[in-house]
Amino acid sequence: MLSIYKNLKECLHDAFQKALSEQEISHVASKSLFDPQLVNASRPEFGDFQANGALPLAKEFKLPPRQIAELVVEQLIQNQIFSELCEKPEIAGAGFINLRLKKKSLTKEIKVRLKDKRLGIPKAKSISVVIDFSSPNIAKEMHVGHLRSTIIGDSLARILEFRGHKVIRLNHVGDWGTQFGMLISYLKLVAPEALTKANAINIGDLVAFYKEAKQRFDLDDDFQKQSRKEVVKLQNGDKDSLKAWELLCNQSRQEFQKIYNLLDIKIIERGESFYNPYLKEIIKDLQNAGLLEIDEGAKCVFLSGVTGKDGKALPVIVQKGDGGFNYSTTDLAAIKYRFSPTPSGDGANRVIYVTDAGQANHFKGIFQIATRAKWIPKTARVEHVPFGVVQGEDGKKLKTRSGETVRLSDLLDSSIQRAEDDLRQRLIDEKREESESFIKEVSTTVGLAAVKYADLSQNRISNYQFSYKKMLALQGNTAPYLLYALVRIAGIARKGGDLNESRHELEFNEPQELKLIRELLKFDEIINEVEEELLPNRLCGYLFELSQIFNRFYDQVPILKAKNPYRSSRLSLCKLTADTLKLGLHLLGIPTLARM
Ligand code: ARG
Repeated sequence: MLSIYKNLKECLHDAFQKALSEQEISHVASKSLFDPQLVNASRPEFGDFQANGALPLAKEFKLPPRQIAELVVEQLIQNQIFSELCEKPEIAGAGFINLRLKKKSLTKEIKVRLKDKRLGIPKAKSISVVIDFSSPNIAKEMHVGHLRSTIIGDSLARILEFRGHKVIRLNHVGDWGTQFGMLISYLKLVAPEALTKANAINIGDLVAFYKEAKQRFDLDDDFQKQSRKEVVKLQNGDKDSLKAWELLCNQSRQEFQKIYNLLDIKIIERGESFYNPYLKEIIKDLQNAGLLEIDEGAKCVFLSGVTGKDGKALPVIVQKGDGGFNYSTTDLAAIKYRFSPTPSGDGANRVIYVTDAGQANHFKGIFQIATRAKWIPKTARVEHVPFGVVQGEDGKKLKTRSGETVRLSDLLDSSIQRAEDDLRQRLIDEKREESESFIKEVSTTVGLAAVKYADLSQNRISNYQFSYKKMLALQGNTAPYLLYALVRIAGIARKGGDLNESRHELEFNEPQELKLIRELLKFDEIINEVEEELLPNRLCGYLFELSQIFNRFYDQVPILKAKNPYRSSRLSLCKLTADTLKLGLHLLGIPTLARM
């Protein structure tokens, strides 16, 4: 209801202005001082909105706040725009002005939404946004933390894209660093032919390969020395080393891509190695900005306002004593590149990093240094979007029964398998027969939706407990519950309800209808909020609430059996509910079903 809200706010501004300028004290009568403090009503019985602005003015005007509220209301009811929108305002408590929208204005708004493909969500003034998400490490397991980053990042990207922004989805993969010395040395040892012949080997399980290499590294001094030399060779661009590196990266990439395909994730790989050519320049920049200091042989920047246990400022090391660069240096190069104007950068106005909360201090440091080095334009925003740990049902970090880290592909497969088991059981219970292809489609959609939704519906800051049983339940704040609401609506259409019928004027008379209408009209506000606060759980909570209200409406108000204009009006509400749920789920990265 953002447009209604804006109109009302104007009316209130005006009313406060008029009401108070007639008072003796006119020296404070500047419009901006009269903030009507218009907010959503805290409870439905108070109406739709409440204006709390009378209270803080009482002192200044030496009037009881209720009296100020009365003066304002007197003005309000003379305003034609206001009177068309709202019933007569009520004054409550110490001087709150409660506002209730007229049925007519609600109906009018519903009509607008029904005709609008964007369901009332306007396009924003477009800016360039970089979202750094997923970002697993080459040759290492892509773990549940990366899954969270992938799911949350994708959803934020979808929402910002829908709002009309230019979003650059970046996969900052860990494809550089000292571990490659060890991996390349091991590759040369066990499969030297891989460097000369195409497709000579299939490294297959890279994670196992990593473990073997690491074992060797820990036990064998010569191998360690060899590995260190290999890092230097790689950094100096040795051809064989680069080839081995590419081989390893490609292998990982294929594994990651399988997960992205399954989850329908679009992302551009721009790994750490991309920033190699810029690292030296970063050190120079920091030097020129007067930020660089030497500490125990290493080049670093001391953070202001961030101290360690000893009370001294904490350093961020940007170049080690041996000349090597690290994770932070790369992130400094990355942030500079992202904010630099095109074509020598991304020209971003907003940069968002989606990683586990454990990296919060790392990003705080990076943002501070980038700000002090003046790489971030004044009008731009940079944000870390942290999230908690994924726990097993025992409250500990998620592990398999044998104590290994859970593989993402296994986790997703399990969810799909369980969704299939549930479905087959339900078909038996309901004595339904369905084709194998139907069963496959439904279980895949539900299984993946459940994992995504379980992740998104939690406030991301908190840790979340991974439970197949909870996330696949048909009841509660789950994907299956939301998908099922849509299936119900599709069922109405199958039973002969034409959801697009619009021959009749909209007419509503049941409280359940008005409740549903008010909920439907909140959609634009919610999207706005998520765009600002980057909390997808707000959207989940909204869709859940909407489904619950819809289900009550569906259970209590006759739809197909009603007479027109009620029948077609209710069908219109079904349609708008379906469209809202579909769009909302789409923005969470979740496809929907007509039957399940
Ligand atoms: N590769 C890192 C990890 O697995 C995440 C990278 C996040 N992005 C960044 N620009 N540092 O923890």
